[in-house]
Amino acid sequence: MENVLVVYYSHSSNTSKLAKMIAEKVGGKLYEIIPKSAYPNDYNAVVEQARKEIQAGFRPPLKTNIENIDIYNTVFVGTPNWLSSVAPPVATFLESNDLSGKTVIPFCTNGGGGFGHIEHDIQKLCSNSKILPGFSAYGSSIKDTEVSAWLKRIGIQEK
Ligand SMILES: Cc1cc2nc3c(=O)[nH]c(=O)nc-3n(C[C@H](O)[C@H](O)[C@H](O)COP(=O)(O)O)c2cc1C
Repeated sequence: MENVLVVYYSHSSNTSKLAKMIAEKVGGKLYEIIPKSAYPNDYNAVVEQARKEIQAGFRPPLKTNIENIDIYNTVFVGTPNWLSSVAPPVATFLESNDLSGKTVIPFCTNGGGGFGHIEHDIQKLCSNSKILPGFSAYGSSIKDTEVSAWLKRIGIQEK
């Protein structure tokens, strides 16, 4: 089995739930992206901040960086759908780590908008990676069987 990393940012735990499910199924290493300063819990406040940051292309600094990214061949990248885009901490991660030559697989959770342009964003941020079709789930309603069916479809073996 390839060396698999499941990296994600989650604000209110839905994406974290999906990330854990994927990591368990494929036997991957989980890595949570944590911004230096946490986003507000208040919904209006976080939407306002996200809007400003996404419009400005702001890359929030992260608390830590991952070690030994080179050892992974396959990297699942997870984000909540924020205004149809990747959450800015995920953009910081992808810009500060070189995933060239690796297989990158997007996943997201959303409030009804599916992927928005997240797959496209990830493609742009990982222009030298092989991008496989991703998986998006509505909120925390993540069906185990659907995750398995998707992994099978894209040729990723469960452990
Ligand atoms: C700042 C912000 C912006 C959002 N924008 C969208 C959106 O454009 N489309 C959508 O379907 N859901 C949107 N949502 C809903 C989240 O994508 C959804 O609740 C997601 O499951 C949250 O994942 P998390 O619990 O891992 O943070 C937004 C949520 C937040 C906080």
